[in-house]
Amino acid sequence: AAGTKGGIERTFIAIKPDGVQRGLVAEVINRFERKGYKLVGIKAIVPSKELAEEHYGDLKARPFYKGLVNYMTSGRAPVIAMVWEGPDVIRQGRRIIGATNPLDAEPGSIRGDYTISVGRNAIHGSDSFESATIEIGLWFKPTEVFDWKFTHEEWII
Ligand code: TYD
Repeated sequence: AAGTKGGIERTFIAIKPDGVQRGLVAEVINRFERKGYKLVGIKAIVPSKELAEEHYGDLKARPFYKGLVNYMTSGRAPVIAMVWEGPDVIRQGRRIIGATNPLDAEPGSIRGDYTISVGRNAIHGSDSFESATIEIGLWFKPTEVFDWKFTHEEWII
């Protein structure tokens, strides 16, 4: 499955257009990279309406859904779509990102340190193995995700 490789997980992380416009790309990548996770896929993309709607399909009935899709697809800046790999990266990724509402996001998390508003919370991360598998498949072709090894992998994993 797209979410796993020999017991090691993969997750879908995306820097949303507000995060890109605010210059948070390097900061986000740095936090995942320094933690010890491996970047196995990355691209800049302005998602189509169809892609954004499918990605957030479970929120269709919510009042903020239309605005959320418009924000993701505006093209004012692209989304930086990424696949990160490593032990427990799905749950750890959510911790690194912080709670959905910046008011609840702990200082030290990305949302806790850099965002104020739930509607402009800068970053997305898959919330389960199932959604990671679906989201990686939605945003990436298999040939856009790479298997590679850290030279120092034995010290991390
Ligand atoms: P959700 O999947 O609940 O959170 P997360 O991004 O942490 O997985 O919601 C998706 C996005 O929808 C969220 O990042 C920002 C937006 N959103 C709002 O704009 N208002 C809201 O009240 C909620 C719950 C989410």
